[in-house]
Amino acid sequence: MQERLQQLQAEALHKVDNASGLKELNDIRAAYLGKKGPITEVLKGMGKLSAEERPKMGALANEVRDAITAAIESKQQLLEEAAVVEQLASETIDVTLPGRPVKVGNHHPLTRIIEEIEDLFMGMGYAVAEGPEVEQDYYNFEALNFPKGHPARDMQDSYYISDDILLRTHTSGVQARTMEKNHGKGPVKIICPGKVYRRDNDDATHSHQFMQIEGLVVDENIRLSDLKGTLDLFAKKMFGEDREIRLRPSFFPFTEPSVEMDISCKFCGGTGCGVCKDTGWIEILGAGMVHPNVLEMAGYDSKKYTGFAFGLGIERIAMLKYGVDDIRHFYTNDNRFLKQFSVHE
Ligand code: PHE
Repeated sequence: MQERLQQLQAEALHKVDNASGLKELNDIRAAYLGKKGPITEVLKGMGKLSAEERPKMGALANEVRDAITAAIESKQQLLEEAAVVEQLASETIDVTLPGRPVKVGNHHPLTRIIEEIEDLFMGMGYAVAEGPEVEQDYYNFEALNFPKGHPARDMQDSYYISDDILLRTHTSGVQARTMEKNHGKGPVKIICPGKVYRRDNDDATHSHQFMQIEGLVVDENIRLSDLKGTLDLFAKKMFGEDREIRLRPSFFPFTEPSVEMDISCKFCGGTGCGVCKDTGWIEILGAGMVHPNVLEMAGYDSKKYTGFAFGLGIERIAMLKYGVDDIRHFYTNDNRFLKQFSVHE
């Protein structure tokens, strides 16, 4: 019996030693230490032993069990450690692999122009204002000194929704709204970017919907020279320090005097080319001193307050600045066009 037990121990330890996985080890444990295993089987023969030998065999059987258990436990630990090492190796991340590029979008060219102009004017203390695109006739025309039936209304062919409501034809309505909100008090210093609508046939330079930025300053002692200085600074910041400006007399019902501003052509430097139609100058915007009637209608004392206003087309600025030859490019969402304004590539 003693031999048989020692043989079982040797056999089991050998198997444990050679076990290559945890499953195999578990099978060995079940086979040798389980209730129906060979050790239990051997101990069944204890009844035939003498009273002297019985405790010895019992002790030996326990030793064999302990030896097998200890061997299984230490092997189990080894196998588990090996499994962890293997798992770590298989899950290693190669940090030198190049990442998958994420496609990054970019701002629309018109947004870029708007932000550039906003930054410039905010730096001079202007606030950004907004107004509705579906506008009342009163703010789009009447409050700006275009009475009903006034011929100047024909300068801006409109989309009417009802007799009194239309899609705004310019951002100048925000002037009237902002002054009205300020209850006749200065100073007012705003710029207002936004969409405007005019009945027009779309072509390379016309669009029935386009964008403008309006500027308005109202305070005591605002003069035409303040307007000129502001526009000069704007032209140089947007188009380069060597740009010159000139103001030509013009007409808008809501400004008096009214002007149009040209900048010296950056393409030919003023000598004349196709872009400036051989004049050396490019028209950029309309402006003027706020008409006393407009100030009075908004509740301002026109003896005390004066102001200037200007309005420019954003597409026109973008076309000149980026050399775009067709206004429709801004609205057709062609990625080949839009990607050219990416700051990421
Ligand atoms: N609202 C005018 C237009 O759309 C531009 C303008 C704005 C002119 C402000 C003078 C002052 O043509």
